[in-house]
Amino acid sequence: MENNSVLVLPPARRTGGMPLMEALAARHSGRDFDAGRELDMQTLSDLLWAAWGINRRSGRTAPSSHNRQEIELYVFLKSGVYKYDAAQHALLLLIPEDLRASTGSQPFVGVAPVEIALVSDTSKITGKSPQGIIEATYANTGFICQNIYLFCASEGLCTVARALVPKEELAARLSLAPEQIITLVQSVGYLKQ
Ligand SMILES: Cc1cc2nc3c(=O)[nH]c(=O)nc-3n(C[C@H](O)[C@H](O)[C@H](O)COP(=O)(O)O)c2cc1C
Repeated sequence: MENNSVLVLPPARRTGGMPLMEALAARHSGRDFDAGRELDMQTLSDLLWAAWGINRRSGRTAPSSHNRQEIELYVFLKSGVYKYDAAQHALLLLIPEDLRASTGSQPFVGVAPVEIALVSDTSKITGKSPQGIIEATYANTGFICQNIYLFCASEGLCTVARALVPKEELAARLSLAPEQIITLVQSVGYLKQ
């Protein structure tokens, strides 16, 4: 922790992991999270980089329509809610409270140590109809979610993408602007043994 509001992540390991075909063979959704096992900082760093990190000059690990890069990751940990700053590879503290349980109503929500809400800043998408904006941003969301799925498969982590999210309440809790929409939330943790 560099100061109270910035959690600097260790550099992500950009090598290793499971061979891609084995990760694809292992990918699945899991919901039986181990409440007692948190991700260490290196694994959290690698997860966020794999999800939506910067992998070249201004490029990211997932594509986005017209390279708008409009998705922001809101990361819910026991210690608080953070926004992932890909340029700094850091977590910026937004709310110093455990709000994991407010991201859904399924029984495992609040048990998983990490919840990642994908929030689209639709104001960054120009030149499209309202329907076109939704189509583009949900496609962009899907790439990031699949990155998380494949990273979790590779690391032996449990994950599930969730649309079943109280989006209005959560948006209010996060003080989102009207043009910021929550597209999906993904739970991540270890499987209960
Ligand atoms: C867009 C989307 C929304 C989903 N929403 C939920 C959800 O709210 N809750 C949940 O438990 N699983 C959710 N899932 C996970 C699916 O149920 C799961 O991917 C599907 O059953 C296939 O299982 P698999 O991922 O293990 O192949 C969602 C998946 C996707 C792609």
